[in-house]
Parts: sequence; C-alpha cells; structure tokens
Amino acid sequence: MWLTLLGGNRKGNEFRGVMSGESYDRLTSRIGLNEGFYMRAAELIPLSEGMKVLDMGCGTGSLGIAIAGMIGGSGRVDCVDISSEQLAHAEVKSRTLKTPFRFHRCSMDETPFEDDQYDAVVSCFSFHEAASRVRRKAVGEAARLLREDGVFVLIEWGRPQPALWVLPWIPFLLIDSCLDNWTNKYAFLCGEAGMETVCDTYLNKLVRCQIFRKAGHCGE
Ligand SMILES: C[S@@+](CC[C@H](N)C(=O)[O-])C[C@H]1O[C@@H](n2cnc3c(N)ncnc32)[C@H](O)[C@@H]1O
Repeated sequence: MWLTLLGGNRKGNEFRGVMSGESYDRLTSRIGLNEGFYMRAAELIPLSEGMKVLDMGCGTGSLGIAIAGMIGGSGRVDCVDISSEQLAHAEVKSRTLKTPFRFHRCSMDETPFEDDQYDAVVSCFSFHEAASRVRRKAVGEAARLLREDGVFVLIEWGRPQPALWVLPWIPFLLIDSCLDNWTNKYAFLCGEAGMETVCDTYLNKLVRCQIFRKAGHCGE
C-alpha cells in the first residue's frame, strides 16, 4: 500500500499526493507530531542567533520552522528533500518568517553544498525513508558539511521504551530501516565519520534524538 502512496525513487520514499503537503501535516499532527513536538526537538539542539542549519529530508519544514525561532533573522535554514510537493509546502509555511530559508530538491547523500559550512545538520524521520546505501552515505555527507564542532542531530524511531501505548506501533517499526537505529548503527557510522555522541535521549517512548559533534582538528 505504501508504494502506491509514496513515490518509488531509488534514493528513498518520495512523499507525494495525500502523503505530502497540508495533508501530511494533518496526518502527522494526529499522531502527536505537532508544533509542540518540533519545538521540544529544537530545544534539545545547541542553537544560537545567526547559526546556519541544514535539514536533510525536511518534508514540510516543521523542524526548520521551530529552529528558525532560535537562530533569528541573521541565521539561515537550508532544506533538502527528494519530494517537490513537500518542498513546495515547506516554502509556503516559511514565507512569513524572518529567518531566510532555501530549498533544494536533492537526496540527502548528494547535496550541492560546500564543505564545513553548517553549525547544525538535522534530520527528522527521514533516514528510515531513505534507501540503505543512502542512509550510510548521508552520515558522511553531514560530516562533510559541518564546520568543526558543528552538530549532527538525528531524530528517528528508536527502540520502543516500556509503555502499553507503544505496543500497537511495534509491528510498523520492525522494518530494516528502523532497526538500524535500534542496533546503534548511526552512532557507529558517525564515529567512523569523525563525529562523537554528545546526547542520546528520547523525545517520547518511541522517538530517539541523538546529537553527534564533529571533532575539531588537534594540534596547531
Ligand atoms: C516521514 S517524512 C519526514 C519529514 C520531516 N522531516 C518531518 O519531520 O515531518 C520523510 C521525508 O523524507 C523524504 N526523503 C526520503 N528519502 C529521501 C532522500 N534520499 N533524500 C532526501 N529526502 C528524502 C521524503 O520525501 C519525506 O518528505
């Protein structure tokens, strides 16, 4: 069923039609992924005025919009996604904000941006929608794009924490692309790419937020 709602793209699931734009926002807010959720996520990220942030798999831009409030008009949010429908809706939502936004249709593992330019690279619920080789390459891409001491923030379905309400969700999360997070694959890949874990927490019983910091150069 998902393949008929999500476009087949060799890079990942391209959200379109009823799974994109306004209807995507309506559906996701019904399961608690609303403004309050994205604000709580943004508050975990070490952000300050003027920072440059990249959102990989931005969807309708909800996390970037929460971040914008913290980096102000001198900051910038760049958004990438493989879905033009998601990007178009994100553009509409960000129009009235002071923070400049830029939108690019591309895959998270092959962005057109220069090295070492972002203070934070964030990704929320997009890694599990990307193809396996893309997820691995995207970790390296985040490391390439971050300046020294910049942070890579990965918000994804994690290993469910004990609670009755999570039980019906478990079958949906038993897919290869979610299990990567259950088995700590991203911490391993980030370590290999020169990024160390500085925070590993849960936003709720199902959603894990990991923050990795790109190491600076040692010596003179
Ligand atoms: C579940 S949505 C999450 C969107 C948004 N980050 C949020 O929190 O609502 C997953 C998004 O990832 C995008 N996507 C899938 N594979 C991708 C890839 N390889 N590169 C960039 N975006 C991708 C989809 O088009 C979709 O908009």
